[in-house]
Amino acid sequence: MTTPTWAEKYRPKYFTDIRGQGLAVEKLRSFLKKPSQGKAIALHGPPGTGKTSLAYVVANESHAEIFELNASDLRDREKLNEILKPATEQRSLTNKGKVILVDEVDGISEVDRGGLDELISLIESSSYPMIITANDIWDKKFSELRKTVELVQLKEIDYKTIKEIMTEILRKEKKFIEGDILTNIAIKSRGDLRAAINDLQIAANMPNPSDIIIDERNKEIDIFSAMRLIFKGKPNNALLKLFDSVNMPIEEILLWIEENIPAEYSGKELAKAYDMLSKVDIFKRRIYRQQYWRFLIYETAFLSYGIASAKKTEKLGFTSYKKPTRILKMWLNNQRIARKKTIARKYAKFVHVGEKRALREFPTIKLFLIKPEVQKELGLSEEEVEYLSKENN
Ligand SMILES: Nc1ncnc2c1ncn2[C@@H]1O[C@H](COP(=O)(O)OP(=O)(O)OP(=O)(O)O)[C@@H](O)[C@H]1O
Ligand SMILES: [Mg+2]
Repeated sequence: MTTPTWAEKYRPKYFTDIRGQGLAVEKLRSFLKKPSQGKAIALHGPPGTGKTSLAYVVANESHAEIFELNASDLRDREKLNEILKPATEQRSLTNKGKVILVDEVDGISEVDRGGLDELISLIESSSYPMIITANDIWDKKFSELRKTVELVQLKEIDYKTIKEIMTEILRKEKKFIEGDILTNIAIKSRGDLRAAINDLQIAANMPNPSDIIIDERNKEIDIFSAMRLIFKGKPNNALLKLFDSVNMPIEEILLWIEENIPAEYSGKELAKAYDMLSKVDIFKRRIYRQQYWRFLIYETAFLSYGIASAKKTEKLGFTSYKKPTRILKMWLNNQRIARKKTIARKYAKFVHVGEKRALREFPTIKLFLIKPEVQKELGLSEEEVEYLSKENN
């Protein structure tokens, strides 16, 4: 890729560049002054709050090199030795310290105990300071790991600080966006500074920056054009907003993309694309588990930009994409049942009957649920209303 995104360009280099995390920085500094043997630091907290950045700052400030391990390295003991050994040897040559970073341990799956065990023993034996980052360090699977780490929590950054940072970036980029729009972006980001900076960059390149805060449902494109944009061209920032204009739930888009990856990609590209899909899954699980909707950003980013970046070169020619039939049917069916359940629940609450009974009597209830004034009274959502108008069950 050519030019770095603003989020990358303005990534903190020194402790003083880290904003809105006073307590965490203090705690980290004092830990670094007297590190306790056999313990690592775990920087944990929501996305875009400075975890990875802090790890790099630590290395930079102590004039050390950063040495990054990922979840898959940990799974493979042999490979791990292969990577770590040269790292140990290098030290004598350059005489430079090292900081070992295991970024985003959330990616290690629960089933794959080996990786986590390996990480724990690595922490216990490492002569280099180790930093781990995680979104959810309180996940059950980390109960053993938690005993070998010093917890440093990063918080969501408050919107005023986010707004300040955005204003500084705009000044450096010699761009201007109205204060109200900045406030809106800052609030919308819910403490995720990366998301805010990304939105800011997109807004700054729009003819009318205030459009960033409106949901552009009117500019709908179909799923086939969306797939063409993802599979054929170079990855670009506009892709991050692509699904906003596709009138289809993200789950369904995922199935279409999954179905059609092999139609465009092969070999290494194929593997990379599937790797992106697995990342989508990771975030999807986090979203459901933590009810943290902000993660949707990552889900869509991996699905659009991520899949687009799996290719080596742009793709020419026409590809006829297939409809993901079987799984799509299963999924749609689940959706239908889910919708029916939420409607039944609202109804049951309203008329004080049990939910089960409401479901059982659904065909009858439906007859008057069709009336708009009833729908309004029950507070049915757009999707629920749509369900009632379409389905004949
Ligand atoms: N506390 C902060 N101070 C200054 N800039 C920040 C801070 N947090 C995030 N940023 C900005 O957001 C970008 C992304 O931050 P970073 O990669 O550190 O997030 P993270 O906490 O590691 O998120 P994730 O959980 O998604 O990995 C940085 O490059 C920087 O531009
Ligand atoms: Mg990170």
